[in-house]
Amino acid sequence: MTLIDRYRGRLPVTSRTPIVSLGEGNTPLIRADRLAKAAGLRPGSVHLKFEGTNPTGSFKDRGMTVAMSKALEEGSRGVLCASTGNTAASASAYAAKAGLRCVVFLPRGAVALGKLMQAIMHGAEIVEVAGNFDAALKAALRIAAEQDFTVVNSSNPFRIEGQKTAAFEVAEVLGRAPDFQFMPVGNAGNITAYWKGYKELGGARTHMMGFQAAGAAPLVLGHMVRDPKTVATAIRIGDPYSKASALAARDESGGMIGSVTDGQILAAYRFLAHEEGVFCEPASAAGVAGLLKLARAGRKPRGTVVCVLTGHGLKDPDTAARFAPRRRAFTPGRRFEL
Ligand code: F0G
Repeated sequence: MTLIDRYRGRLPVTSRTPIVSLGEGNTPLIRADRLAKAAGLRPGSVHLKFEGTNPTGSFKDRGMTVAMSKALEEGSRGVLCASTGNTAASASAYAAKAGLRCVVFLPRGAVALGKLMQAIMHGAEIVEVAGNFDAALKAALRIAAEQDFTVVNSSNPFRIEGQKTAAFEVAEVLGRAPDFQFMPVGNAGNITAYWKGYKELGGARTHMMGFQAAGAAPLVLGHMVRDPKTVATAIRIGDPYSKASALAARDESGGMIGSVTDGQILAAYRFLAHEEGVFCEPASAAGVAGLLKLARAGRKPRGTVVCVLTGHGLKDPDTAARFAPRRRAFTPGRRFEL
């Protein structure tokens, strides 16, 4: 069953909406006892919502199935997005499936290799922007409005609607919404979507704990960042589109939006792969880095904790390659000591 069919009653679709699906959603919630131990929490209290198993390897597919289905229903002439990579990969794949033109505006030199390869293979029209994501998004919104293309960034409310289904899945598996949720924040659509999802379930009780990279933390600093910098290219964003709804999610839920350094992000990224067997991309590890940072400062969360891992580690092979250990050589015919 498609994600839209599963949650049809809670999504803005009708029987006339043509569904564009690649089998998104229904991602695993993985118990993470080594992470719990590292954070000083009880076994069984920490879970990873691994969104890397979506068809294009990130959570964007949940929003894209709804946005693309609605674009097709509305007779769109084509879709357009600005992206740090994952939105572009997802839009490219779903537009290919829908038979729609897809134009992606990418900040030059700042998109992880795997994501770029996906856009290329799905046949997207790639526009390199001489500037960062924030400049690319401004340009994309203006050009799409002028030329009547459908924007499939999270400024499109159908994207948020689709992405809120992840909250439903988490609550189904746990039997109720978690007490705390840790997640990365970039353009701030996903924290907005999860909070909407938890609220729709009623009795919202989950503290929303969002984490930005220290070099790209406008919501922590309280002002936009002109030249955002971080190894986590997915969240290298200085002026998030959904800042107001992200701050509302933080305040309504009694949560926080904090920052973590690149060193903390990479340590969490490596820990998850080494100790939990889950390979996510660097940005995805920001929430886990935040959990470990708070725990070390004596601010341990109480109750059940979910960390959202937003994208697959294979998206960014160049960052993974930095961790290559020295390799041993084997010569056929010689004995090899393990
Ligand atoms: N994690 C990953 C892997 C992402 O790709 C993104 C955003 C985020 C977290 C942050 O989510 O923007 O909803 O706060 N990627 C967008 C893109 C910006 O263009 O792919 P957010």
